[in-house]
Amino acid sequence: MSHSLHIIILAAGQGTRMKSDLPKVLHKIGAKPLLEHAIDATRSLDAEAIHVIYGHGGEQVTKALSHCNVNWIEQTEQLGTGHAVLQAMPAVGHNKIVLITYGDVPLITDRTLQNIIGHTAENTLALLTAELSNPMGYGRIVRSDLGDVREIVEEKDATAEQKKINEINTGMLAVNSDLLMRWLDGLETDNAQGEYYLTDIISMAVIEGVEIKTISPTELVEIEGVNNKRQLANLERVYQRKQADLLMDKGVTIADPSRFDLRGELKVGKDVEIDVNVVIEGQVSVGDRVKLGPNNVIINSSIGDDTIILPNCVIEKAIIGKNCDIGPFSRIRPDTQLAENVKVGNFVEIKKSTVDTGSKINHLSYVGDTTMGARVNVGAGTITCNYDGANKHQTIIEDDVFIGSDTQLVAPVKVGAGATIGAGSTITHDAPEQELTLSRSPQKARKGWKRPKKNK
Ligand code: UD1
Ligand code: CA
Repeated sequence: MSHSLHIIILAAGQGTRMKSDLPKVLHKIGAKPLLEHAIDATRSLDAEAIHVIYGHGGEQVTKALSHCNVNWIEQTEQLGTGHAVLQAMPAVGHNKIVLITYGDVPLITDRTLQNIIGHTAENTLALLTAELSNPMGYGRIVRSDLGDVREIVEEKDATAEQKKINEINTGMLAVNSDLLMRWLDGLETDNAQGEYYLTDIISMAVIEGVEIKTISPTELVEIEGVNNKRQLANLERVYQRKQADLLMDKGVTIADPSRFDLRGELKVGKDVEIDVNVVIEGQVSVGDRVKLGPNNVIINSSIGDDTIILPNCVIEKAIIGKNCDIGPFSRIRPDTQLAENVKVGNFVEIKKSTVDTGSKINHLSYVGDTTMGARVNVGAGTITCNYDGANKHQTIIEDDVFIGSDTQLVAPVKVGAGATIGAGSTITHDAPEQELTLSRSPQKARKGWKRPKKNK
């Protein structure tokens, strides 16, 4: 069948059981809203249009997902799944294939959706069903003695006998839009919930002699919906495991896939190793042989070949070159760029700075708004005083500088190439190239001085 495809995603439900002010479909898995997962699953299907039925949380939903190129249709009152689909029909038009999916079922795959569409024909409705050992709560698929689908009964309308049926309705189906329109027009609310049930179209189809083909998902998690925080957490772990599996398929060594979180996209080189409790957010890329130690959080950054990130670092919006050693306990803040062979050690914070090849900032330092040359050695406890209470100022440290421990560089200030700064200095003026600069009160020794004695 070569009719063009229209997708309708149902997302108007309230989600009371989430116990949240946030609309259900905006709750996230892998930092991406449930509804966005549902939309993304349909992307490769090449639909003429994706219609999203929203209701609860209204503006909040369309605003949060305004970057998704979909047709938003409001269902002001949630009168049932049949009523929800009906809202989209004027925008669908004649003789299309309509695929219906749910905004709160995030792990559905394009492969399964494609399979549903592939089984639709002029006179055939394709329905995604599944066998569950515990079918409670779902609509049941009622079949004839010959095995043909006759109808779907909702849990609340089912007889004790029907409740024993294990085959359930996932809610996803595909059918010709003209047939669908006719059936939706005929829906009534004479059921336990007083709603327009989309599921009632099945018996209508059967009466008209339209064939019902059932299809199964590849995996059961594909059809799992999110109705509460427990289900959200379960699907989060399933989703994370799938991402970890894909990375391992690419050759990444992951110490424990159940303690790995990717909330975005990770591009990897060869022989990458990821230890436990690493969290990756946004767009991150790591080169060949990169090692990420335990408890690292890396956000929107890139890390060059052979670089090692020791435990407990937070790295955000940074570009780190090849063969660097970072951490443990380093914080690299946005707009930082480290060249090759740079060492950043414990309790070092770097912000909005560039550090050239081979420089070392190994202990207890703050480097902000700084341009640092190559082969600089920054002693422990060095601070760039970049903020005067009103404005931020730049520090320039040229190549081959040696900065003694416990130095304050009061910006704006420049330390010339090859300069040495004596330990404990407060540098308020530019330090000349190649020379020793220090500001330090002279050391005194008091001859004959005695320690006070404790009073009796
Ligand atoms: C529905 C099916 C049931 C199926 C189950 C699978 C019907 C009548 N029942 O039941 O057979 O086993 O899904 O999860 O279709 N929605 C709207 N507007 C509405 C009502 C619902 O957009 O007026 C959306 C919801 O946001 C949700 C989806 O439709 O994404 C399903 O609604 P829900 O209330 O969860 O249906 P169930 O009672 O679970
Ligand atoms: Ca549901």
